Amino acid sequence: MEEVETQKKTPTDHPILNVLKTRWSPRVFSPQPITEQQVKKLLEAGRWAPSSYNMQPWRVIWGIKGSETYDRIFDCLNEFNQGWAHSAQVLWLNAYKTDTNDDSGDENKHALHDLGLFMGNVLTQAEDIGIAVHQMAGIGATKAKKEFKFPENYVVATGVAFGHYGGNPEKLDDELQEQELKTERKRLKQQEFAFNGNFDN
Ligand SMILES: Cc1cc2nc3c(=O)[nH]c(=O)nc-3n(C[C@H](O)[C@H](O)[C@H](O)COP(=O)(O)O)c2cc1C
Repeated sequence: MEEVETQKKTPTDHPILNVLKTRWSPRVFSPQPITEQQVKKLLEAGRWAPSSYNMQPWRVIWGIKGSETYDRIFDCLNEFNQGWAHSAQVLWLNAYKTDTNDDSGDENKHALHDLGLFMGNVLTQAEDIGIAVHQMAGIGATKAKKEFKFPENYVVATGVAFGHYGGNPEKLDDELQEQELKTERKRLKQQEFAFNGNFDN
């Protein structure tokens, strides 16, 4: 596969897909808008993620900058994330259904796992069309659940900021600017998390 230029170095130990290498999570985005069609494309990518028993437990609330929904989602972010996420062109909230789809009331123990797969698809599709994604655990989950009228058997898990790469890091405060300008992404080595045999600390 042809190499594309990455904005941050991703020092892989084995060759991987370019979309996985070039993706990173900015905290400042360019002013280029994201269209409703592009949002639908991202949701469509997520839609085709695999899930346990095909239960598709993911639920999404989304809003484009300038809309009331965007502002309502923004109000559900914590203070830290509100400090930078305002340059996002789209904000969304991820939630999952906590029980199975058969009315038994049984817990779907893999719902959060499957929401992660959903987001994996969204991230990969976004990268392919030059849209950057920054996921956020830092939200008021209870507030968001109430604000968007989720029934009891749902958990609001994360917020997500979308925008095009190329925002001006000078718009961030000094500490975030330093993080934004780091030139290399870091990960554990494979031997720290993958074992060809017993778990090894
Ligand atoms: C579930 C999840 C929650 C996260 N929560 C936050 C958050 O609240 N605020 C934030 O600035 N970044 C958050 N991040 C971003 C991570 O810090 C970031 O993905 C990680 O440092 C790896 O960087 P990279 O995505 O650029 O490779 C979150 C990421 C994930 C997947």
